[in-house]
Amino acid sequence: MKGTASTVMERCELLGNISEEPGRLTRPFGSQAMREANDIVSGWMRVAGMTTRFDEIGNLIGRYEGTGNETLVVGSHLDTVRDAGRYDGQLGVMVALACVQQLHDRGERLPYTIEVVAFADEEGLRFGTTFLGSSVYAGAFDESRLNLEDRNGVTLREAVRAFGGDPGALEGRGKGDLLGYFEVHIEQGPVLEQEDLPLGVVTAINGQSRVRASFIGKAEHAGTVPMEGRRDALCAAAEFVLEVECAAKAEPGSVATVGEISALPGAVNVIPGEADHSLDLRHPEDAARERLRDHLERRAREIAASRRCELRWQLRQETPAVPADPELSALLERAVEDSGVSVHRLPSGAGHDAAQMAALTSVAMLFVRCQEGISHNPAESVRREDVGAAIEVMSRFLTLLAQDVLPGASRETSS
Ligand code: GLV
Ligand code: MN
Ligand code: MN
Repeated sequence: MKGTASTVMERCELLGNISEEPGRLTRPFGSQAMREANDIVSGWMRVAGMTTRFDEIGNLIGRYEGTGNETLVVGSHLDTVRDAGRYDGQLGVMVALACVQQLHDRGERLPYTIEVVAFADEEGLRFGTTFLGSSVYAGAFDESRLNLEDRNGVTLREAVRAFGGDPGALEGRGKGDLLGYFEVHIEQGPVLEQEDLPLGVVTAINGQSRVRASFIGKAEHAGTVPMEGRRDALCAAAEFVLEVECAAKAEPGSVATVGEISALPGAVNVIPGEADHSLDLRHPEDAARERLRDHLERRAREIAASRRCELRWQLRQETPAVPADPELSALLERAVEDSGVSVHRLPSGAGHDAAQMAALTSVAMLFVRCQEGISHNPAESVRREDVGAAIEVMSRFLTLLAQDVLPGASRETSS
């Protein structure tokens, strides 16, 4: 039986070895590792009775046809952060696949089509953005992002073309037939473990802003230039990083992170002439996030000026906070209850493809407990029995939705 928790665990393990970097899982958008993962997953999709295709940004889409005209989209992402765990994204795709496999094994068709999507980029590792895959699919892609460059100066436009897509044809899927979007994901936080519960129902996804900032000073000799005369770009960035921490602590509910930084030209005996860094800001309320973002930009400019540096500030992306759909979530809660698990509702501090899919259709999400809440780390871990519970709840959810779509009708079974 391929529709089981053991298979899901084995598949996450296997996919966890498909990486751009030896010895650790790093699978960015448009990489050879992503191509390999896509090929393997599309093979599994076909075994589960789906037809498969790729869209222009490289999302892998499997369709399990139903008997009616409507479609439920389910899925998550296959890209990863650097030195990632094996479950962030992959688990959601594998659980969806397991549920379709069970339907296929029983020869069962639902009154709606299930579209399993393995999104091409949720993490934004390569271009510093997030949700490239789901924003295209949802028809919410901002075309100016095609000009963004990765660390090697390759633009997103070039990367899409190199991966086989047409950057001039990044069109949304359209929503005429959609019933909604459903995603299973690891919680990536400690709440479910503290509650001693395998699963949770997501109420909302926090909004986020992503910025790329550069302090430009002057690269000079580290041994000869006195401390007073320096225009050290890394010192300016360092002062700003501490300001980020301080400002986020002062704004309740917010989190802010500088997760990536580089000093150029990058030599022991050269004063850094340029420091480039990321900034990731999140808050459940959009107005508070925007207030914090504006405050930090102002502070970055002040710090740059006080150190005779120049500041480049590029707001790369913003995603508003997104509530889960009350009706789909009510069905999901019934599915959780029917499987014997107490319903626990919680918001998501992490971003998810569901946040973009909300631009297209109603969304609901199920969280799976992860050990010590650890994520974006190779120590990410889930229990097999929790994965089994997620498969069961998702299957029940699909059935409840089928009953909603065709009230009173029994589902068709072929042998
Ligand atoms: C994705 O994992 C994010 O929340 O950044
Ligand atoms: Mn994820
Ligand atoms: Mn992630």
